[in-house]
Parts: sequence; structure tokens; C-alpha cells
Amino acid sequence: MLPGAWLRWACLLLLARLARPCPVGCDCFAQTVFCTDEALATIPLDIPPYTTDMVFIETSFTTVGTRAFSGNPNLTKVIFLNTQVCCFEPDAFGGLPSLQDLEITGCAFSNLSTEIFSNLATLGKLTLNFNMLKALPEDLFHHMDALESLQLQDNQLQTLPRRLFQSLKHLKTLNLAHNLLAQLPEELFDPLGSLQILRLSSNKLSSLPHHTFAKLGSLQELFLDRNSISELPPEVFSQLFRLKKLWLQRNDIRHLPPSIFSSLGNLTFLNLQENALQMLPADLFAHTPRLVGLSLSHNQLETVSEGAFAKLCNLSSLSLSHNAITRLPAGVFRGLENLTKLYLGSNNLTALHVDLFHNLSKLEVLSLSRNLLTTLPEGIFGTNYYLFNLALHGNPWQCDCHLAYLFTWLHEYSDRLFNIQTYCAGPAYLKGQAVPALKKEQLVCPVIRGHLGLEDRELRGSWDLSAKEWAARNQCAYSNPEGTVVLACDKARCRWLNIHLSPRQGSGSLGMMYNATQEWELKSSCGVVRLTLSIEAQAGEP
Ligand SMILES: *[C@@H]1O[C@H](CO)[C@@H](O)[C@H](O)[C@H]1NC(C)=O
Ligand SMILES: *[C@@H]1O[C@H](CO)[C@@H](O)[C@H](O)[C@H]1NC(C)=O
Ligand SMILES: *[C@@H]1O[C@H](CO)[C@@H](O)[C@H](O)[C@H]1NC(C)=O
Ligand SMILES: *[C@@H]1O[C@H](CO)[C@@H](O)[C@H](O)[C@H]1NC(C)=O
Ligand SMILES: *[C@@H]1O[C@H](CO)[C@@H](O)[C@H](O)[C@H]1NC(C)=O
Ligand SMILES: *[C@@H]1O[C@H](CO)[C@@H](O)[C@H](O)[C@H]1NC(C)=O
Ligand SMILES: *[C@@H]1O[C@H](CO)[C@@H](O)[C@H](O)[C@H]1NC(C)=O
Ligand SMILES: *[C@@H]1O[C@H](CO)[C@@H](O)[C@H](O)[C@H]1NC(C)=O
Repeated sequence: MLPGAWLRWACLLLLARLARPCPVGCDCFAQTVFCTDEALATIPLDIPPYTTDMVFIETSFTTVGTRAFSGNPNLTKVIFLNTQVCCFEPDAFGGLPSLQDLEITGCAFSNLSTEIFSNLATLGKLTLNFNMLKALPEDLFHHMDALESLQLQDNQLQTLPRRLFQSLKHLKTLNLAHNLLAQLPEELFDPLGSLQILRLSSNKLSSLPHHTFAKLGSLQELFLDRNSISELPPEVFSQLFRLKKLWLQRNDIRHLPPSIFSSLGNLTFLNLQENALQMLPADLFAHTPRLVGLSLSHNQLETVSEGAFAKLCNLSSLSLSHNAITRLPAGVFRGLENLTKLYLGSNNLTALHVDLFHNLSKLEVLSLSRNLLTTLPEGIFGTNYYLFNLALHGNPWQCDCHLAYLFTWLHEYSDRLFNIQTYCAGPAYLKGQAVPALKKEQLVCPVIRGHLGLEDRELRGSWDLSAKEWAARNQCAYSNPEGTVVLACDKARCRWLNIHLSPRQGSGSLGMMYNATQEWELKSSCGVVRLTLSIEAQAGEP
């Protein structure tokens, strides 16, 4: 901005100030007054009468006297942010018939007495976050009939009086997160028939009273995450017909009652991450057909039963990562028509059934990273038309002929691998090579000699291809009678083989004395093949 223009603005501001007086240490904008001067030692007496919003930030006065704002009857909002305020005299906010929103956040007071809020019948929103409240008197909110939002997050509340919420019939949001609550009185929430969101995250709850949520027929979101809950009473959610989101992550839940979610027909999101679940009851999700997101990651599941997710036709994201899953039944994901994200990483899966992902035709993201997979069966992604993000790293991939399907799939859709740092763990000569960088010709399998009636313990031990599988691959394994020369090749193409080895120019290392040729007739159940091997001696040598 040009200096001239700046000057003009400054003048305008000055004129505004002259026209509308503003208390010292404060700034006034229309009907809002901001007092941000640290030195402000008391609530100013000259707040303009038409003010509707009053905000104090980091001021140093400590006391709010009786009816401190009664000169400003049009106030609808009063906010204290990170101030030194600690003491409120009786009826501190009296005489404000339009007050809607009162916030006292980040101040250091630890107690409040009932008389302070004795006249707040119009208040819709009360916020007391980030203070040091240790306890609340039972009748603190008893005159706040209109209250819709009550925020008490980040205090030090250890317990709450049974009748604390007695008159809050219109309350829609209650936030008690980040306190020290270890127990809840059984009837505490009973008056809250309109409550839609209840936050109890990050407390010290280890159990819940059986009927603690029984009257919360309007509840849509329930946050119970980051507590120490080890057991849930079977009926605890049985009246929450409207519940849409349930957060139970980071507790200590070891098992779930089979019908715990059976009333939650409207549930769309469920988070059970970071608990201690070892198994899931068979019909756990039989009555939650609207689920869209489900996380079971970071538990101790060893498997999941066949029909566990059968009813979840709207499920879009399923996480089972960071468990101890060693195997999954072929049909465990059957019916998940809308699944787009599936996380199976960090488990102990050693093999996957070829039909495991069959009909997951909307699948886009699949993580199989950090398992014990050596290969994937041919055709496993045959119906996953939209799969574009596949994580495979952290598995001991065996880069032989069995990996050909995966390899071809990856090359056909070369941009789909999430992490190209996907390495071969074997065979020895390919160990440490990145899978995507291989050439298809490198993915070969040696012959199993067992099939040829030959003895070789070493080879048989290290390759697990059965004779049937070998035949199914349309390949033949030929051998001479001694079994010293074996050759595996495609049934349709393999008729003869001519190998000619000539010395590399100038290498001089493999110095052969003579030109040599040998022929073998190799036999297999497919027929006979002729192998000719000729070795050319280095020119110039005797
Ligand atoms: C307070 O608001 C009322 C109605 O909106 C208005 O008539 C009155 O003038 C306002 N009072 C002051 C002091 O501005
Ligand atoms: C808290 O209690 C102390 C004495 O116990 C009292 O002096 C103080 O005013 C109270 N604070 C509030 C905010 O009520
Ligand atoms: C889902 O909630 C609606 C109200 O939002 C309710 O009418 C319906 O009965 C609930 N569905 C189930 C299955 O509980
Ligand atoms: C699945 O979602 C669609 C679209 O949101 C909805 O119309 C349908 O009722 C849901 N199905 C179930 C079983 O809830
Ligand atoms: C999973 O595999 C790892 C590595 O092989 C092993 O240390 C761990 O004990 C296995 N966990 C289970 C639950 O089998
Ligand atoms: C889920 O899939 C079914 C059938 O394919 C479809 O009718 C429904 O609308 C889908 N739901 C969502 C949320 O896409
Ligand atoms: C996939 O869907 C088709 C057609 O709906 C069905 O015939 C087939 O059995 C399904 N496959 C699996 C493995 O569920
Ligand atoms: C080997 O054969 C090549 C041609 O095939 C010939 O040039 C060379 O002289 C032969 N070497 C000996 C040692 O006979």
C-alpha cells in the first residue's frame, strides 16, 4: 500500500474511534469489542452500550463482579480466552437477557459455585474448556433450560454429581473429553433426551454402568475412545437406535458380547482400533447393515470367521491391519460389494485363497504389506477392476514362476504398486532385487526331481511345486536317465533346444582348449526332446 493510502486508512480508523468511543486497551469493530491488553486490570466501565459480542484475550484482571455487564443488556456473547480470571462473584452474568454464548477457556480456576450462573435462562452455549475444574456442584446448570451445547473438555473432573444435568432437556452436545473421570453415576445422562453428541474420550473409565446410555434415544455420535474400558455391558448400547458413529478405539476391550451392536441399525462408523480383541463373535455385525467404515486394526485377532461381514453391503473401508491374522477363510469378504479400501497389512498371513477378493469389484486400495506372503495365487485380482493402489512391501516374496501372475498384473498396470520397495526374499540369486524391476524370464522354477522319479533331497526340500501343479501349468520336465541334465519348458513349444556357448571377447577367463559338442535325448511324460550343447574354444588357443 502507498504511504498516502495508508495515511488515509489510519485517518478513517481514527475517525471511527472518535465517532464511536472504545475502552482503553480494547478494539471495537461494529458491535464487537476485543480487549487484548495484558495490562487491563479490570473490566472496562465504558463498553459501548450497543455491544453484542465481548471478547477478552490474555487480560490480567482476576475477578468478574456481580452483574459485571449489566450496562450492556444487548450482549449475546461473552468470551474469556487465556485470561487470569479465576473468581466470579454471585450472578456474575446476571442482567443479560439475550446472552446466548458464554465461554471461559484456558483460565486457571478449579471450582465454580452455583450462584455464579443463577440467571442464565437464555444461554444456548456454555464453554468451560481447558480450565482446571476438579468438581462441579450438583445444581450448577439447574437454571439453564435453553442450553444446547455444554463444553467441559480438558479439565480435571474426577466424578460428576448424579443430578448435574437434571434440567438440560434441550442439550444436543456434551463434551466431557480429556478429564479424569473414572466412573459415571448410573442415571447421570438420563435427562438428556435430546442429546446428539456425547464426548467422553480420554478419561479414565474402566467400565460403564449397564444402563448409562439407556435414555439417549436421540444420540448420533458417542465417543468412548482413549479410556481403559475392558468390558462392555451387553445392553449398554441397546437403546441407541439413532446412533451413527461409535468410537471405541484405544481401550482395553478383550471380548465383545455377541449382541452388543444389535440395536445399532443406523450405525455408519465404528472404530474398535487398538483394543485387545482376540476373536469376533460370529454375528457381531449382523444387524448393522449401514456400516460404511469399520476399523479393527491393532488388536490381537488371529482370524475372522467366514460370515463375519456378510451383511455389510455398504461397507466402504475395512481395516484389519496390525493383528495376528495367520489365515482368512476364502469367503470372509463375500458380500462387501461396496468395499473400496481393505487394509490387511502387518499380520502373519502366509497364503491367500484365490477367491479371497473375488467380487470386490469396487476395491481401489488394498494393503498386504508386512505379512509372510511368498506368492499370490493366479487370478486373485481377476475381478478387482478398479484396484489401483496395492501395497506389497515387507513380505518374503519368492521370485520364481509362481510369482508370474502378480508380476504380469503389476506390469500391465505399472503405476499401481503403492511402494516399489518390494523385494524378493528368494531364490538366493534374486534376493534383495526389487520385484517390479525384474524381467519375466527371471521368474523360473527348477524341476522337481521327485516327479521324475529321481532322488535329490536338497532340491525337493526347497521347491514346493507338486507334480500335478507342474502339469497344470502346461509345462514338461525332461531328463536324461541319469538325472544329471534336466530341462523344464512349455509343453506347446518345447521340442528341441540348442545351446551354444562362445567365449566373451577379451575376457580370456573361461579358456577352453577344444570345441566340444554333446547331445542328450531327454524324456518326460510329454515326450522326448533333443538337447545339443556346443562349447566353442577361444580363438588362437591351441
Ligand atoms: C438493543 O437492541 C434493541 C433491539 O435489537 C434495540 O432496540 C436497542 O436500541 C439496543 N440497545 C442499545 C443500547 O443499542
Ligand atoms: C473457589 O473456591 C475458593 C475458596 O475455596 C474461593 O475463594 C474462590 O472464589 C472459588 N472460585 C470460584 C471461581 O468460585
Ligand atoms: C434409524 O433412525 C431413524 C430416525 O433417524 C429411525 O426412525 C429408525 O427406526 C432407525 N433405524 C433403526 C434400524 O433403528
Ligand atoms: C446403503 O447406502 C445407500 C446409499 O447411501 C442407501 O440408500 C441404502 O439404504 C444403504 N443400505 C443399507 C442396507 O443400509
Ligand atoms: C507373527 O510373526 C512374527 C514373525 O514371524 C512372530 O514374531 C510373531 O510371534 C507372530 N505372531 C503371531 C501372533 O503368530
Ligand atoms: C452398495 O451396493 C449396492 C449394490 O451394488 C447399491 O445398490 C448401493 O447403493 C451401494 N451403496 C453405496 C453406499 O454405494
Ligand atoms: C461372485 O458373484 C457371482 C455373481 O453374483 C457369483 O455367482 C459368485 O459365486 C460370486 N463369487 C464368490 C466367490 O462369491
Ligand atoms: C572352434 O570353432 C570355431 C568356429 O566355429 C573355429 O573358428 C575355431 O577355430 C575352432 N577352434 C578349434 C580349437 O578347433
